[in-house]
Amino acid sequence: MSLIEVKHLRKEYPGVVPLKDVNATVEEGEVISIIGPSGTGKSTLIRCLNRLETPTSGQILIDGVDMCASDVDLPKIRQKMGMVFQNYALFNHKLVVENLMMAPMDLLGMSKQEAYDQALDLLKLVGLKDKALSWPHELSGGQRQRVAIARGLAMKPKILLFDEPTSALDPQMVSEVLSVITNLAEQGLTMLVVTHEMRFARDASTRVFYMDQGELWESGTPKQIFENPQRKETRDFIFRVRNWNWEIHSIDYDYHAMMSSLQAFCARQFLGRHITLACQLALDEITSTILVPLAKKHSVEDPNIIYGLSAGEGSEEADLLVDMQKLAESGISEHEIMTSFDDISKMILENIVVRDYVDEDGVLHLVIG
Ligand SMILES: Nc1ncnc2c1ncn2[C@@H]1O[C@H](COP(=O)(O)OP(=O)(O)OP(=O)(O)O)[C@@H](O)[C@H]1O
Ligand SMILES: [Mg+2]
Repeated sequence: MSLIEVKHLRKEYPGVVPLKDVNATVEEGEVISIIGPSGTGKSTLIRCLNRLETPTSGQILIDGVDMCASDVDLPKIRQKMGMVFQNYALFNHKLVVENLMMAPMDLLGMSKQEAYDQALDLLKLVGLKDKALSWPHELSGGQRQRVAIARGLAMKPKILLFDEPTSALDPQMVSEVLSVITNLAEQGLTMLVVTHEMRFARDASTRVFYMDQGELWESGTPKQIFENPQRKETRDFIFRVRNWNWEIHSIDYDYHAMMSSLQAFCARQFLGRHITLACQLALDEITSTILVPLAKKHSVEDPNIIYGLSAGEGSEEADLLVDMQKLAESGISEHEIMTSFDDISKMILENIVVRDYVDEDGVLHLVIG
């Protein structure tokens, strides 16, 4: 018998059907990463699993017990499942150690001493034993999230559910939290993790669920999903997370949104500081000293400036793409662009561009390194 069996799960809200017909099984000890575009029912699935939401129809069997049956002992079933959300909901008026003691004392009937001893063991597991007597507000976001994980473990669950546990964290804190989750995975705890950290999905999970349009669109080993996805939607999604794209269609474009989006992509791809800054510099130089001034010069209010950036994880090089064909369509020719670089721009770019070429589709590649 599988630990979790989901059969024809459907969840409707007025006017929205976040889950159409989800079918899945999870075996004990599996680590499932749930990935997919926004609004495709990932959170809803997790929330239905521990019955924070009531499914409209279908079945969820946990250890053979139907969570949707009217006579189910919900508190008992829920004890088998810990949950960690995006925002570590710790009690701020309780010390860290107390946050981990409350539920085991209230719900498992542990003595204060037992609960305290267990809390210290769990804090040690997540690397925070020395913070036992701190207040939550004295911790960093990453530390608080690790306390939240320890608290999830305090109820001795068989299953731990995570909904984007690192998405509210700064990049440097993401890895400390992911390393704790990876460590738990190695200890054989069954986990379902909604995540946009593709590196975690690829390296730490036994299987990946790709969700799209309210369905479990495709599932497989990380190798299958990342290297050989079968469905077009999965392929497109994997491509999108590996590549950065940005379009500017107005001379009053949002410079800061573009730069921070690029920076977020570089962080996600674990690009170093040097290469990240070089990409930003190149993008800034091309946009604000070449392309946008050219658009203004020709009174093109709605230019077609389309950028792409591709870089492997941790790569020392990145390929910045500028679609010259689309620019030509909006009245800015390749020749004009190429002759618009003044001496200072040239000097700046020469420092960071290793090579450049225009491919057969009329796309300018600037290989930055
Ligand atoms: N309580 C609710 N009432 C009404 N609609 C809801 C409710 N919860 C979710 N939805 C809708 O259901 C759909 C799926 O939402 P869900 O939060 O599960 O997506 P998600 O895949 O987790 O997205 P994200 O990646 O952005 O977190 C969305 O269209 C959302 O607006
Ligand atoms: Mg969500």
